[in-house]
Amino acid sequence: MFARICLAVIVAVSAQAQLKIVIAHRGASGYVPEHTLESYAMAHAMGTDFIEPDVVLTKDKVFICLHDIHLEMTTDVEQVFPDRKRADGKWYAADFTLAEIKQLHAHERLKNRFPQDKSSFQVPTFTEMIELVQGLNKTTGREAGIYPELKEPKWHRDNGLPMEEAFLALVKGYGYTDAKSKIFVQCFEAEPLKRMRNDLGSTLPQIQLMGNEKEFAPMLTKEGLAEVAKYANGIGPDKGMIDKDPEIVKRAHEAGLQVHPYTLRKDSLPSKYSSFDNELNQFYNVYGVDGLFTDFPDLAVAFLKR
Ligand code: G3P
Ligand code: CA
Repeated sequence: MFARICLAVIVAVSAQAQLKIVIAHRGASGYVPEHTLESYAMAHAMGTDFIEPDVVLTKDKVFICLHDIHLEMTTDVEQVFPDRKRADGKWYAADFTLAEIKQLHAHERLKNRFPQDKSSFQVPTFTEMIELVQGLNKTTGREAGIYPELKEPKWHRDNGLPMEEAFLALVKGYGYTDAKSKIFVQCFEAEPLKRMRNDLGSTLPQIQLMGNEKEFAPMLTKEGLAEVAKYANGIGPDKGMIDKDPEIVKRAHEAGLQVHPYTLRKDSLPSKYSSFDNELNQFYNVYGVDGLFTDFPDLAVAFLKR
């Protein structure tokens, strides 16, 4: 009898662990330059559940995978197009056609990671990213989802490049059509998420991202989270917000929201944690989050398996 109870507990705990997800942040960006097809492929091979592209629009309205709305942090745009910066000294993706962006070399943002002047990488389109993931889903028989972030939709709209409708049409074309689709659509801005849910009728799972800025504080109250739950399926807070107030997880769960904090990095471990496993354990098992963004998806996958 005792053995049967123990087995039931083990099965239940394993099933619970299975439900927790790993989100490969900018691909396997701890190993390969962020937001490159190579980084996404490596994340897939590492067994991640979801792969994150950040997306912005080019001048000719093509979604590309890029963290910033400008290009100089992760490409050689300054050398290739020295005269194309705006008055603020930045090279905006929205000022370049896709053909021009394809002339650039992409490189890792952080100097302590993949050497910035080695090998050769490109800025991928969002379409290329989806086709890579879906191709790997087919050839490996293991289905990874996508977790795209719309970067600065208000800025894009103000610059004549509305994102939401075109984004939904694009993902629909690849079979991401309803609440069961293996996709999470994330954004720091609430309005685009509300527009997609309420005006454009999207039922795709949505995540309200949150940062440490004051503007997000009202969203974290019981009432604020209830409002978020009207248009989103979960929240994506900065991990420091949960370290500071672990009750966020409980409040979000009570509102019916999943919790996916960002970003756990083995090479940038907060001093309060003795190891990366220690940090993973704190978030997955002590705080009880449902998933997390990490630049080292292999380590999170291995942790959940244990
Ligand atoms: O989307 C989650 C996380 O990636 C948000 O931060 O700046 O890395 O896009 P960022
Ligand atoms: Ca992101």
